[in-house]
Amino acid sequence: MPKAKIISVINYKGGVGKTTTTYHIGCSLAQHYHKKVLLVDIDPQNNLTFLCAKAQRWDEFKQQHGTLATLYRQYAAQSAVSTRRVIWENPIELDKGKRITNLDLIPSDVELLGDELGLDGSSAPFPNQQASAWKMSAYLRERRFLAEALRQVENDYDYILIDCPPNLYLMTQNALFASDCYIVTTVPDYLSTLGFDILQGCIIEIRKRSDAAQVFMGKSYGLNSIAELGGVVFVKVRHSPHGILPSFKQKMDDIEKSHPGKRFNSYTTELIGYNLAAEQHRPVWECHTPAAQAAAAREEYQNITRIFLERFHFHAQLKKAHA
Ligand SMILES: Nc1ncnc2c1ncn2[C@@H]1O[C@H](COP(=O)(O)OP(=O)(O)OP(=O)(O)O)[C@@H](O)[C@H]1O
Ligand SMILES: [Mg+2]
Repeated sequence: MPKAKIISVINYKGGVGKTTTTYHIGCSLAQHYHKKVLLVDIDPQNNLTFLCAKAQRWDEFKQQHGTLATLYRQYAAQSAVSTRRVIWENPIELDKGKRITNLDLIPSDVELLGDELGLDGSSAPFPNQQASAWKMSAYLRERRFLAEALRQVENDYDYILIDCPPNLYLMTQNALFASDCYIVTTVPDYLSTLGFDILQGCIIEIRKRSDAAQVFMGKSYGLNSIAELGGVVFVKVRHSPHGILPSFKQKMDDIEKSHPGKRFNSYTTELIGYNLAAEQHRPVWECHTPAAQAAAAREEYQNITRIFLERFHFHAQLKKAHA
């Protein structure tokens, strides 16, 4: 199998559908398009993990195999990292003991919160600052954990999807280094659109710093430049009887103007079925409650996934290898 396409779902704003989107695209890729998928939960809130399985099953898995936090500690201690050991195969259970096949998970852990705070910090280089090799090397090492961990399994999957926490701290920067490109999910309202521009500005700044560090260190690092924007998925869109609410439509058009070609033409509407499906640890199309079925009938995430496949089949090489 050729190398997986690795895509992060990012927004430093909270509650904008990152996890719901990662989960449903992952499930749709596996179930409707027969792709082999690895979901990676790097958010200490564990939300993607708990969409896949109940907390008790996660705890049992953790006791036997560990979580992303286990990998991170191995890496921080400079011991061998064993990514396959923490991969949970087919965690999503359906009716009659069936599972979603072709879909695996690296679960997260609330313990990552402390770990992340421990390692990030003073070694961040600024392009104009007098740099030392030690500082630059530490800066890059802190950010290539996930790229190195995923390199061990990238030939086992078609797609690896990383669900990021609502921030741009160290672990999210790791996701940017590890990915071919990133998707932003956002609600098309005033504050979220402002946030989108701020997010792009922050990522440009992270790119400048990491590129400067890599130029300073030379080829020996062999790290790629960070991911490029691959798409924008709008979520929780509201409708009137005449179509999308004009204020929402305006914000969607604004993002299309400022980032041409990035917007996905399918989006999700605000429907209680998505909330309710979360409690059942299944995608909406596998739930039996009327509200979830109403959401499933719209096939919103199937359409988003179709666009995802068209886009990332052709555009997965966005990230350029650093010379
Ligand atoms: N289309 C939708 N309609 C209604 N509710 C939704 C929709 N999409 C997601 N939700 C709900 O909104 C809440 C936030 O969604 P989600 O957890 O996916 O966002 P997030 O960006 O990952 O949040 P965080 O920043 O905390 O990680 C969840 O309760 C989820 O079930
Ligand atoms: Mg989330």
